[in-house]
Amino acid sequence: MAEKYLLTRIETPGYGGSLREYTATGGYEALKLALAKKPEEVCGIVKDSGLRGRGGAGFPTGLKWTFMPPATDPRPRYLAVNADESEPGTCKDRVLMERDPHSVVEGVMIAAYAIRAKAAYIYIRGEYRASKAALDRAIAEARAAGLIGKPLASSGLGGEVTLQVYTHVGAGAYICGEETALMESLEGKRGHPRPKPPFPANFGLWGQPTTVNNIETVTNVPYILTRGPQWFMTMGTKASPGNFLCGISGHVNRPGVYEVPLGIKAKEIIDQIAGGVWKGRKLKALIPGGSSSGFLPAPIVETMVMDHDGTKAAGSMFGTGAMIVLDETTCVVRATKVLCQFYHHETCGQCSQCREGCAWLDQICTRIENGDGHASDVTALLALADGMRSKTICALSDAAAIPVQLAVQHFRAEFEQHIAERRCPFGNRKMEIHHDGLHDESHIHNTQSVHTDVLTLHGIQHGDRVVGAARRA
Ligand SMILES: Cc1cc2nc3c(=O)[nH]c(=O)nc-3n(C[C@H](O)[C@H](O)[C@H](O)COP(=O)(O)O)c2cc1C
Ligand code: SF4
Repeated sequence: MAEKYLLTRIETPGYGGSLREYTATGGYEALKLALAKKPEEVCGIVKDSGLRGRGGAGFPTGLKWTFMPPATDPRPRYLAVNADESEPGTCKDRVLMERDPHSVVEGVMIAAYAIRAKAAYIYIRGEYRASKAALDRAIAEARAAGLIGKPLASSGLGGEVTLQVYTHVGAGAYICGEETALMESLEGKRGHPRPKPPFPANFGLWGQPTTVNNIETVTNVPYILTRGPQWFMTMGTKASPGNFLCGISGHVNRPGVYEVPLGIKAKEIIDQIAGGVWKGRKLKALIPGGSSSGFLPAPIVETMVMDHDGTKAAGSMFGTGAMIVLDETTCVVRATKVLCQFYHHETCGQCSQCREGCAWLDQICTRIENGDGHASDVTALLALADGMRSKTICALSDAAAIPVQLAVQHFRAEFEQHIAERRCPFGNRKMEIHHDGLHDESHIHNTQSVHTDVLTLHGIQHGDRVVGAARRA
């Protein structure tokens, strides 16, 4: 049985997450240890541990902290903690916030100290009311105990450090999880990503040096401080040490959030931890790390290891470690359409490749699924997805394109069967094209018209039916 630390308290019967219960189980000891060191020493310890960000990109956390300007830089600096958690399939950060909020607060405080921030802002997904309430309660308790908001000497923790920790709720936009959109939103503006450079470490919140870290990332830090980087590296793999919170959902018997070591086999999580594919069915595909990581077929999942290198070798990415399991009765075209609809709805619209690309991917997948696809549609999907990769202000465009690319790469025959048979072979009923909330027939013709024009720019030939629809529009 692999060692656990992130969920140990939470899985202890009767643990309620109060300050009293947290401190009785060693809570805030790591903060004392951190404050007895220089901030750069704390950075060094986290760097030595090899901890990588759990928000999606897997960037080394200690290294990211060293990008902040030197102590001699007089500008105010901030920590922004990302609890937006809106990627489909991802549901792990809320477990920490709701069930062990002081572990989050302690991680936030140590991270803020390490980068010499005097204020940390926790940006919470709008729908996560329980997470915000739990964190606000924990922050109030920590403030009353003199841990937050007063010179820390008065709490017996030593030093003259004063930290402020605030929560802030989003308004329900996935894009606000992207670090620069998050900062815009925190500043009270529309959550539109900023072009990079300049990077947040130099130009972040209110134009000041800022580090953005995920909730799970910072919650690892107190354990690294108390038990040491060598202990941390005994779990996981050399390139991806530690445990991660795996949210597993979809067609399994026991969906949930489980703490497992990085490097564990995906099949072990599905079959042993999550109780296997439901209803005695076979595995068809897996989305390994949140919707942006796309679809992998069962034979690849069979041997895939859940860490940054293992998922990359399988042609995908680790992302948020959120696994979505699809059984053999699932229509991959429909699943792809559902993801396309999500990205179509969530694109912020600044970049034309993303704004238009997301809409067309949605529309083309819808008509293939509805039995109205054209012979050229699969090629069109690939051309569109290719045009959306690595060309935009932020990675949402890539995130929308990857599931389509992987679905066609691994399940092309299924797309072609839909088109050839002019129906969904899984017997699914027709779906509507979603575009700005309009679903009527005339609007469908209009969107086909736009689609036709732009595909022509890509040099793709169309069947008569689409051109006919365009003429009608
Ligand atoms: C469209 C989009 C949405 C994102 N949503 C989240 C999110 O909800 N939570 C998160 O921690 N990171 C999210 N990220 C990644 C953040 O931009 C950033 O890399 C991360 O918060 C850094 O934290 P880490 O280094 O601790 O992983 C998102 C990125 C993109 C492009
Ligand atoms: S890639 Fe998409 S979501 Fe990101 S800035 Fe451009 S339009 Fe907005």
